[in-house]
Amino acid sequence: MSFGSIATWRMAHDGIVESLNSLEKGGTAGDAVESTIKVVEAYPYYKSVGYGGLPNIEGILQMDAAFMCGDTFKIGAVAGIEDVMHPISVARQLSHDKFNSFLVGEGATKYAMLNGFERRNMLTERAKKMWENRLAEMAEHNLSPYDGHDTIGVVSLDSHGSMSAGTSSSGLFMKKPGRVGDSPLSGSGFYVDSDVGGAAATGLGEDLMKGILSYEIVRKMEEGLSPQEACDQTVYPFHDKLTKRYGKAGAFSLVAMNNKGEWGVATNVEFTFSVGNDSEEAAIFIANMGENHTTVIEPITQEWLDAYEKRIKAPIK
Ligand code: GLY
Repeated sequence: MSFGSIATWRMAHDGIVESLNSLEKGGTAGDAVESTIKVVEAYPYYKSVGYGGLPNIEGILQMDAAFMCGDTFKIGAVAGIEDVMHPISVARQLSHDKFNSFLVGEGATKYAMLNGFERRNMLTERAKKMWENRLAEMAEHNLSPYDGHDTIGVVSLDSHGSMSAGTSSSGLFMKKPGRVGDSPLSGSGFYVDSDVGGAAATGLGEDLMKGILSYEIVRKMEEGLSPQEACDQTVYPFHDKLTKRYGKAGAFSLVAMNNKGEWGVATNVEFTFSVGNDSEEAAIFIANMGENHTTVIEPITQEWLDAYEKRIKAPIK
């Protein structure tokens, strides 16, 4: 049987490599999704997910996450959770509950505390400094405050034929308290059906929600489209539609994998992702919107990776 994992952004790569090792040994798709996301949630230099994520306008880090099992359609999600090391693990545990499986704000945080999930002050000094700098810039230049919605979204297939999907995000930098993005919303941020495949999103939640793009990609794969065709034929027509109605579309990118381990992506911005399966070793690619509703996908260069490493670790003044 095939297996594989695909995830948004370069930041997912180390987790994808680890998860493919465990999938190769018979590990489950659910564990692959959770472990991939946990690696990203714990890394302090990724500023849009978990520890080190950028806070809301009040300087409070509020995180969204979701987990879905493609065998049972069970979904667990949290939104606006605070001071919890691994929102994805809370979401996964909630997915086992028939009721109360999507918790927000204080209720989500309280659930995590009561159920023994690791607590942590998730706001690093670095993220706090970036928030202070942005407040000053806003006051000085009247800038749009919003930035950074690089969610981790993962879809995995295991050798038993099961699929899972998950997301985790600190959402939009400088968001209003209580703002929730697409990441914990099924259909928008993620969707998976083990009989077909799954998809996950990153980008501007407010626009992703308008198109329910993850579900739409899975639906198209069910109609017989390959993951790449389903991504292209979902993302670009919707990008055009938003552009027509609003003059511009927010940035968004989607990844998909079907139940054979074949994959696809589509994006309206420069977008990196990590993918591997039983026949392709885990690798990072860079994707851009091509002509006529196509996606141009190229292997990442060492030069790009070096510049990225330098950028994410650059000292904050
Ligand atoms: N895609 C993450 C967000 O908009 O919050």
